[in-house]
Amino acid sequence: MLMADVRQKFLDFFRERGHAIVPPASLIPENDPTTLFTGSGMQPMVPYLLGEKHPSGTQIADIQKCFRSQDIEEVGDNRHTTLFEMLGSWSFGTYFKEKQIPWMFEFLTSALEADSTRLYITVFRGNESLGISRDTESVKLWQEVFRQRGIEARDVDFSERDGMQGGRIFYYDETKNWWSRSGVPSNMPVGEPGGPDSEMFWDFGSDRQLHETSAWKDEPCHVNCDCGRFMEIGNNVFMEYQKTVDGFIKLKQRNVDFGGGLERFAAALNNDPDLFKIDAFTSIIKKIEELSNKKYSSVIASGTKQSPEIASSQTPRNDTAVRSFRIIADHIRAATFIIGDERGVVPSNIGQGYIVRRLIRRAVREGRRLGIKEPLTDQIARVVIGEFGGAYPELKRNADRIASEMQKEEEKFGKTIEKGMKELEKMTYVPPDKGDKGGLSGEQAFILFSTYGFPLELTEEILKERGASINREKFEEEFKKHQELSRTSSAGKFKGGLADHSVETTRLHTATHLLHRALKNVLGEHVEQRGSNITPERLRFDFSHPTKMTVEQIKQAEQIVNDVIAQDLPVRFEEMTVEEAKKRGAIGLFEEKYGEKIKVYFVGDDTKDFSKEICGGPHVTHTGELGSFKIQKEEAVSAGVRRIKANLS
Ligand code: ALA
Repeated sequence: MLMADVRQKFLDFFRERGHAIVPPASLIPENDPTTLFTGSGMQPMVPYLLGEKHPSGTQIADIQKCFRSQDIEEVGDNRHTTLFEMLGSWSFGTYFKEKQIPWMFEFLTSALEADSTRLYITVFRGNESLGISRDTESVKLWQEVFRQRGIEARDVDFSERDGMQGGRIFYYDETKNWWSRSGVPSNMPVGEPGGPDSEMFWDFGSDRQLHETSAWKDEPCHVNCDCGRFMEIGNNVFMEYQKTVDGFIKLKQRNVDFGGGLERFAAALNNDPDLFKIDAFTSIIKKIEELSNKKYSSVIASGTKQSPEIASSQTPRNDTAVRSFRIIADHIRAATFIIGDERGVVPSNIGQGYIVRRLIRRAVREGRRLGIKEPLTDQIARVVIGEFGGAYPELKRNADRIASEMQKEEEKFGKTIEKGMKELEKMTYVPPDKGDKGGLSGEQAFILFSTYGFPLELTEEILKERGASINREKFEEEFKKHQELSRTSSAGKFKGGLADHSVETTRLHTATHLLHRALKNVLGEHVEQRGSNITPERLRFDFSHPTKMTVEQIKQAEQIVNDVIAQDLPVRFEEMTVEEAKKRGAIGLFEEKYGEKIKVYFVGDDTKDFSKEICGGPHVTHTGELGSFKIQKEEAVSAGVRRIKANLS
């Protein structure tokens, strides 16, 4: 079955069961300070899970392009990709487990005709300290549907410790069977919705010996083991809780948030644990074969326990080539989608742009390892566009931008390598004739790697030619220190925000609409939103404008916003089609939602509106609630994009 068939069958299945099909949101989220990218279909749905009314109703399905930067280093095994398409369906307070579980089983085993004996399930074990009990309700529902197929689905606990014990349904704690945008309960900010989940796994069969030949061979195999025998294909989240300062309370509605990996569904139906063998990847892999003059073969399928940066140069040759193919295919596909997005981002040194840069550079580096000498990114990107441009027309529309950004970045990386070479030449290291001790110190190697962006294995290659090596232990130590640091800083950066729906955040959200309109009035209609990030303390608004704003312009914009606040204008929303919103002069991002109903927020009275903007909310009801508005900072983000930070007092 082709990916396109799975897409179609999923949407048909849920349409027939009373779900409105909505188009995907941008990969670059708006008003979501918890993450840089849309990483699940659920992210754009947060307001509705919290009780806002979705313009298309209470039962929704879609296919959402997703990107998870946290998985970059996982790519290379048989099943991880950074970009994926998520099959999504939601119940905003209508049905719950009693429908979701039988439907999922039916979708898999009837609509897709998947083999039910290969399906395994996990559920939440329960946790007294959270006040949330074991999910026996889901267990019963799963057992019933399996029974109808003549399968006795035993529930088993502690398979991670004791092995599978002949079970089909397994309990896990909140590190595995809990979902929120920020992960486990203890990481969730106040206000964030979440809940226990029930995941579905596909068994590629014990006969393939995936576990026995993997790095996990000495531990018991279980569905969440990383050996590659089992693959999670979908996740049913029963989202009925909200974090408060005193622990969890029930949301006013019981929601279902289902997410399934389209690529993984296709791999399961293919009965091949190598995700890169599904049809959508075939032409991309073929292109890499052509460029490298090597054949892709996925004999070695499982992952590695080490950090890939370090592991890659230690793994056997054959394994390394497989990894390289996968990394190139995944990274160029992801970079193509991000640059080609409706709110496209180009390579840079900050935020999303930095991730795109990393993707492209990692792909180029892997290309080098495969022996590819010519520029490759743009050539592969064209194949990606050919493969996905039908389902994602924005890729075709932005094909020129994608090509030129890839080329530019690949050239820049070439220069980085030249510069790194010069630095390496300047470094002194113990000459090779000193035996084992000969080589570059770990710190030096790390400086080349982190400061000059010079790939580690390139340093190794060069030293090897000269009969020297690197002090790996020291390098690893430096590497780990660095990882810790960057983890800490990104955790701090994206905490809080609109997600909490606190009064402060909501006020700043409304202020952002006023600022957007004010900027258009002062600078001109070319001003368009490029990004927004709101925390309870401040708003941050990125917009297109070629030059630095003058002090005078900043004052004018501030004044306009404060005047609207002083008038205490009402804020309200109406639901309408995209066409109607355009006709009525609404601003904001129009994402291919023709015919779809969307929400437009109006600030003003019935006769004259100061601002009309497409938005999911929430907002205050009167501008008088905002207080005094002040722009704190105006600065450049990248060529043609400015950033304002402002607050209310
Ligand atoms: N939001 C859930 C997930 O991404 C479905 O796994």
